[in-house]
Amino acid sequence: MNQRFDDDMERMLFTPEEIDHTVHRLAGEILTQYLDKPLTIISVLTGSLLFISDLIRLLPIRLHLDFIGTSSYGDNTTSSGTITITRQLRLGVKERHVLVVDDILDTGQTLSQVVDIVRALHPADVKTCVLLDKPSRRTVDIKPDFRGFAIPDLFVVGYGLDYAEQYRNLPYIAVLKESVYRS
Ligand code: XMP
Repeated sequence: MNQRFDDDMERMLFTPEEIDHTVHRLAGEILTQYLDKPLTIISVLTGSLLFISDLIRLLPIRLHLDFIGTSSYGDNTTSSGTITITRQLRLGVKERHVLVVDDILDTGQTLSQVVDIVRALHPADVKTCVLLDKPSRRTVDIKPDFRGFAIPDLFVVGYGLDYAEQYRNLPYIAVLKESVYRS
């Protein structure tokens, strides 16, 4: 079977160049904020993998990097609402300034629960950064401190984002054809 996946995409939403431009802008904003502070970045796995690896290369400051694993989606495109922690934090954050980085803010359940987990560890401060934001889907009162793109209520894949663990390696962000997840 041919494993190429380009035909599964309805349309491209953000090109690699647009993503690159936005990641540079976010890095500039983050740098200004944390130039003189001890920073710990917490990347929410797995979707933020490509975003975090591009972002941290643009931050020429001393920082700690940790990961937290969460899972809220099964093999479908609707959040279950229940967040499972699949990988625990390994580094202490006491008195450090924490930036939680995720790929997408949808209902807000994931990010708000991760922020609660981090707050319980007594950091100096916790802020959030997301590449994509779907504000119309929010069920929890949370706004990202740093935001790449605001998007409408579309299910998107690529640049780390998956559908049923596929398409994370797409270098752009795309809307998936409905026929792919309805089949
Ligand atoms: P919540 O609803 O907790 O969702 O804010 C955050 C997590 O849900 C996943 N998510 C998506 N994944 N395309 C995806 O590939 C999407 O359009 C999408 N919307 C939400 C994602 O894992 C995120 O961390």
